[in-house]
Amino acid sequence: MDFAISINPNAPSPLHRQVYEELRQAILAGRLKPGERLPSTRSLAQLLEVSRATITQSYDLLLSEGYLETIVGSGTFVCRQLPDDLLSPAPIPSKLQPANSSVSLSAYGASLSDKAFLRPPKSEVEISFTYGRPAFDQFPIDLWRKLLSRHCHSQTDVLDYTYDSQGYQPLREAIAAYISHSRAVKCHAEQIIIVGGSQQGIDLITRLLIDRGDWIAVEEPGYLGARRAFLAQGASLYPVSVDQSGLVVSSLTKKIIPPIKLVYVTPSHQFPTGAVLSLPRRLELLAWAQKTGTMIIEDDYDSEYRYGERPIPALQGLDQSGSVIYVGTFSKVLFPALRLGYLVLPQNLVYVFARAKWLADRQCSFLEQYALTDFITEGHLERHIRRMRSLYDQRRQTLVNSLFSHFGDRVKILGENAGMHLMVKIDTHLSDDEVIQLAAIAGVGIQAAYPQYLKDSPGHEFILGYAELNEQQIHQGVKRLSKALE
Ligand SMILES: Cc1ncc(COP(=O)(O)O)c(C=O)c1O
Repeated sequence: MDFAISINPNAPSPLHRQVYEELRQAILAGRLKPGERLPSTRSLAQLLEVSRATITQSYDLLLSEGYLETIVGSGTFVCRQLPDDLLSPAPIPSKLQPANSSVSLSAYGASLSDKAFLRPPKSEVEISFTYGRPAFDQFPIDLWRKLLSRHCHSQTDVLDYTYDSQGYQPLREAIAAYISHSRAVKCHAEQIIIVGGSQQGIDLITRLLIDRGDWIAVEEPGYLGARRAFLAQGASLYPVSVDQSGLVVSSLTKKIIPPIKLVYVTPSHQFPTGAVLSLPRRLELLAWAQKTGTMIIEDDYDSEYRYGERPIPALQGLDQSGSVIYVGTFSKVLFPALRLGYLVLPQNLVYVFARAKWLADRQCSFLEQYALTDFITEGHLERHIRRMRSLYDQRRQTLVNSLFSHFGDRVKILGENAGMHLMVKIDTHLSDDEVIQLAAIAGVGIQAAYPQYLKDSPGHEFILGYAELNEQQIHQGVKRLSKALE
């Protein structure tokens, strides 16, 4: 039995008195409950490395004062009839308490203590168009369970650190091969670091490349998760607008702007508008980055889903100068709770990133990395993506048709034929929050785009995730939404 009491052989008070006091306090504070069995005198003596007589003396004292009782043949117990007023367990706060006001947060901590959310909450309604959620019911969970248990049974090294904070080498090789043919990323496994989802990748980039006061160019609107990480580090954000061809690169290359340390972009499916960064703009951005020594963070979060045309090669694959850090994730193609993503780094940054990963959390869980390696190398990943691409394509079409049939020309669909969400502009006299409220009353969850804007949003823009909803739910959801906004 674990029994956490501490005694000090060098303290002036005799040992039996110390044991007595510790036990009495544990009973009064409710850590030892009425009726709970105490260890035998022999085992407690062994545990505390004192003589058995010391423990017997302290138990006798507690027995004589009524804190303990013995049951012949069974042992020593905390007395069941302790007067209630003796028992005053230290209150356990039922809710998270606000931080003690005397604790002074770091600049990083202070920047996170405001009320603005880091991600809009998932709406708890019957039909939720929450973005970023794959079709969970389509994930081959039985197969995944088999792969996990294959490694649980055969490996004991899943239990220890591997001292390889870069991640499991065969997984890095499998990812390098996969992104080289699917995204035209040029890399060796040695340039890859496995991270806890792309968010950890962004966090490590932020810590390692950004100092307080540095200027970071971000898409406007753009991904809140990245923006908040940069702001928490004390960066100044330089918003660059987005049109139907993605980031307006000329705002960086042809204007007088502050010295930019990093540019964060989502080129294959701009978040949230859905625009795809055109090839000429990609080349212009890369040339500018090379000339100015600016690093580009390419967040390729849902690039697997492009319906119809072939995807444009990743910026990383077009880059000739080591200016791009590529961020990939399995959250969208598999499931977000997996918490596995990867960074593809220019060679000269790998060492410092591996060290930062070790300091942050040592390594990602190897059991999942083993299973994922098999999932990729045995062809399940590509099969799953193919299946989901066709399913999401249908769901997207259903959503588009449904929106047009219920809203007519009161709706404008933004973005390209890609990804797992649509951004729409609804022509309405209502405010964004009113739209959300009316939708929720009708049992439909939608999210406004305005939190993704750094400056003022034009309003009436909404992000509709569709990957998780079947066709009937999509029809129903849009129908209810249009009725609610009539
Ligand atoms: C654009 C973008 N990047 C990154 C992420 C983070 O994903 P994860 O940390 O789960 O890989 C998200 C999540 O929604 C996202 O929308």
